[in-house]
Amino acid sequence: MPTLIAPSILASDFSRLGEEVASVTAAGADWIHCDVMDGDFVPNISFGSVIVEAAGRHTALPLDVHLMIQRPDRYLEQFLKIKGVASITSHLEANHDAGVSLDLIRAEGKKAGLSVKPGTPLDQARVLFGRFDLLLIMTVEPGFGGQSFMPEMLEKIREAARLRRELGLDFLIEVDGGITAETAALCSEAGAEVMVAGTSVFKAPDRAAEISALRG
Ligand code: DX5
Ligand code: ZN
Repeated sequence: MPTLIAPSILASDFSRLGEEVASVTAAGADWIHCDVMDGDFVPNISFGSVIVEAAGRHTALPLDVHLMIQRPDRYLEQFLKIKGVASITSHLEANHDAGVSLDLIRAEGKKAGLSVKPGTPLDQARVLFGRFDLLLIMTVEPGFGGQSFMPEMLEKIREAARLRRELGLDFLIEVDGGITAETAALCSEAGAEVMVAGTSVFKAPDRAAEISALRG
């Protein structure tokens, strides 16, 4: 499985969103990661479906929506309708029936993602194994870009890869937060395939070179 790079537009210049999305598309990105925050599930507000839809008009790449919101079930239909949205991830810790949300996304033919915060052990997601296509392991506390990677999360990635093998499942393991060429290599070695990278891609002097470095 080749490593996929998903630049997070949270680190882009929103006053030039279209150009920013086009730029990372041309630089070799695989997915465009969209961080939706509600100021409740996380202590920050980012953007909603209007911005995701606008980003999608400037790329043909799959849009990877990361919902850091309470009651994500209320908004799934809204995001599912957006052209280009290929995956929607919501949090196990958010206030909803995660299994129902995952089933609904799958029923619409999109990748259903489940995310866990650094403090949430994978054990708590055990009953949902088999019901998601994407497991997003947060490698920082969700809410802000530009934080440092938490090396303790490497063990969680290894555990996810081990469970995937033992249970004969084929979901993707995605990591998010503090991903640089160096930490991406560690995550990849631990078993992750999808690297979300905000700051490292958007602030790089040469985005194409950075994306290849992230890919390893
Ligand atoms: C954090 C978001 C991340 C964030 C990553 O809550 O989920 O996607 O944009 O930013 P960097 O790559 O700067 O850590
Ligand atoms: Zn994210």
